[in-house]
Amino acid sequence: MKAFIYERYGPPETLRMAEVDKPAPEAGEVLVRVLAVSVNAADWHVLRGKPLFSRATLGLLRPKQKILGVDVAGRVEAVGGGVTGFKAGDEVYANLLDHGYGGFADYVSAPVDVLSLKPAGLSFEEAAAVPMAAVTALQGLGRHGPIQPTQRVLINGASGGVGSFAVQIAKSSGAEVTGVTSTRNLDLVRSLGADHVVDYTTTDALGSGRRYDRILDTVGNRSVPDLRRGLATGGKAAVTGFTSVAKLLGVSLRGGKDVAMVQAHVTAKDLELLSGLIKAGKVHPQIDRRYRFAELPAAIAYLEQGRARGKVVAAVA
Ligand SMILES: NC(=O)c1ccc[n+]([C@@H]2O[C@H](COP(=O)([O-])OP(=O)(O)OC[C@H]3O[C@@H](n4cnc5c(N)ncnc54)[C@H](OP(=O)(O)O)[C@@H]3O)[C@@H](O)[C@H]2O)c1
Repeated sequence: MKAFIYERYGPPETLRMAEVDKPAPEAGEVLVRVLAVSVNAADWHVLRGKPLFSRATLGLLRPKQKILGVDVAGRVEAVGGGVTGFKAGDEVYANLLDHGYGGFADYVSAPVDVLSLKPAGLSFEEAAAVPMAAVTALQGLGRHGPIQPTQRVLINGASGGVGSFAVQIAKSSGAEVTGVTSTRNLDLVRSLGADHVVDYTTTDALGSGRRYDRILDTVGNRSVPDLRRGLATGGKAAVTGFTSVAKLLGVSLRGGKDVAMVQAHVTAKDLELLSGLIKAGKVHPQIDRRYRFAELPAAIAYLEQGRARGKVVAAVA
């Protein structure tokens, strides 16, 4: 089968298309014919082996995993031992972040606990946009308990992959949602359902005196004191992104019960919950750019610039 492989850390051009062995599904896995993928920050972090400390697990000198790609959508080709919930031909979507990556390929084996039936109304490209970003939004927003309809929620980075889902998920809970983005994306964030938008190029959303019951910082460019300044009494903030190791450490060391770093772990249960929101018309993937499989390095290079307006996807077949 064809796959994009990388054998050393580096920029997107390090990826090259190669012929590799097709995987076989093990017990508890299904073999998926990949029809679409989305790209995530995890892909370029792992491709570059950055932050450097991540190489302790990724491989000190060279990457241990040769095929990147965490978000896939496709058709079940075969099922491994003990799998009863899926059969050949099922249309599915999955996330492989916690299972060795491998999505940038014609086929991948995915454990059933990170896989769900694809919502019928979504194309494969749209479905591939969902798992990592939407589950991160869901788990970030849910970090301090379910969002209540009476709450005021601030989403920092509301136009990005995670943020575009977070605005819609928070709105589906009935909350009053404010999205922070730059001038060119204000209308986009309004169209996703935000009640209010803040242009970070002219206004500091955390310094305006307005307070929030929940803050989801998908960018990770704000300090813990900044986030606390924006919280109402009893308010809570969850941070899912980071712009530097110092910012990551800052939240880890100075956060606490009110400000927490969240590392998302995709589960089939959360994918099913999202499928429900998608079917109900409450959440829809916001696709920024579509690439062909052969153009994946360009897709990753674009995402790496940090200016995505929703998700970046690629059709594989
Ligand atoms: N914790 C986890 O489990 C997890 C999972 C997925 C992703 N992440 C992390 O979360 C971060 C975001 O991921 P993503 O997929 O949403 O990235 P993305 O799609 O690349 O997000 C880019 C967005 O960030 C916005 N942005 C940039 N600077 C901003 C600022 N100063 N204030 C407000 N918005 C700003 C950009 O809007 P403008 O163009 O308008 O500036 C753009 O729309 C990454 O650091 C990623 O590593 C973490």
